[in-house]
Amino acid sequence: AIDPNFERNREQVDEADGVAVWGPVDPPEKLGIHGTHVAVDFDICLGDGACLEDCPVDVFEWVDTPDHPESEIKAHPTYEDQCIDCMLCVDVCPVDAIDVDPS
Ligand code: SF4
Ligand code: F3S
Repeated sequence: AIDPNFERNREQVDEADGVAVWGPVDPPEKLGIHGTHVAVDFDICLGDGACLEDCPVDVFEWVDTPDHPESEIKAHPTYEDQCIDCMLCVDVCPVDAIDVDPS
């Protein structure tokens, strides 16, 4: 499962589509955690899609991640600033790849 303390345990190494990327990152196998308020561990996400289908405010969009060992698409929290903290995505993800921090 995603580390809920990733902000303390990892360093922000990059930004992608306006959201933070928390390392370590070593593509294509290691992609880190994308997002802060809505954080998706790309190295755990297996492209299930339940988060995209269920999010009532469309926070996520697919991004291609060719040659990643878990899946070649990931749910990117591009619109994390729209999140209403309903926690649906956290509940439906089969591999607990998502952490949402209500603020
Ligand atoms: Fe969308 Fe709710 Fe998840 Fe926020 S907590 S990203 S609103 S499903
Ligand atoms: Fe990935 Fe979980 Fe969404 S596996 S696509 S973060 S439901």
